[in-house]
Amino acid sequence: MTTSDGSKTIHIADLNEQYHSKHGALQEARHVFIKTGLDYYLKEINPSITRLRILEYGFGTGLNALLTSLYEESLPIEYTGTEAFPITREEVEAMDYGAMLDADDIYQKMHDAPWETKTSITDSFQLTKNQLKFEDLEYESVFDLIYFDAFGPRTQPELWTLDIFESAYKALDTNGVLVTYCAAGQVRRNLIAAGFTVERLPGPPGKREMLRGRKGIA
Ligand SMILES: C[S@@+](CC[C@H](N)C(=O)[O-])C[C@H]1O[C@@H](n2cnc3c(N)ncnc32)[C@H](O)[C@@H]1O
Repeated sequence: MTTSDGSKTIHIADLNEQYHSKHGALQEARHVFIKTGLDYYLKEINPSITRLRILEYGFGTGLNALLTSLYEESLPIEYTGTEAFPITREEVEAMDYGAMLDADDIYQKMHDAPWETKTSITDSFQLTKNQLKFEDLEYESVFDLIYFDAFGPRTQPELWTLDIFESAYKALDTNGVLVTYCAAGQVRRNLIAAGFTVERLPGPPGKREMLRGRKGIA
């Protein structure tokens, strides 16, 4: 489907759920993950970092990965995208993000990259796509930033639990940051119970609020 800002997303009719906000897929990705996550981490948390490690829950169409690769060409980024149900080549083509962002070669390379393998997409951006379930992630202190982009708790409540957020907390290094588009009260409480210091922040167009959690501050 085409969202309100003209960018595409995938609509799952059976679940009445989208991969992105119907109010604007590109606007949402830029606001939640790039501005409130990446930009914040690099400017406010660790401006002198020399290699940034990002974990995404839900690689999906690869829009967040593509925007991140275009963000700052001089900073080495190691990006791990986890995804249980990769989209098809036909769906990749239908998204049209490469053409929209004038980065078709990068977008194609991301989707051509083999799974479970670290692949250089540009001189500074390395991508590892792992096909596994969020429930099975077992990382420990190896990421600086998490993009938490699961389907919403209405559709998949089992992905927004204390267990999942404890595992995300463990995956982050000290001062690590998690951002998500969701602002539901139970999600916020689960993040806090997992150890995060949580802020409610303005959401993208069409959504009042989003959440950002930080590890390592009292
Ligand atoms: C909101 S979409 C992700 C959107 C994605 N970040 C993008 O930019 O296109 C949620 C993703 O989580 C994946 N997913 C659903 N259940 C999962 C699970 N249990 N473990 C891992 N991935 C899952 C879906 O296949 C989907 O790609």
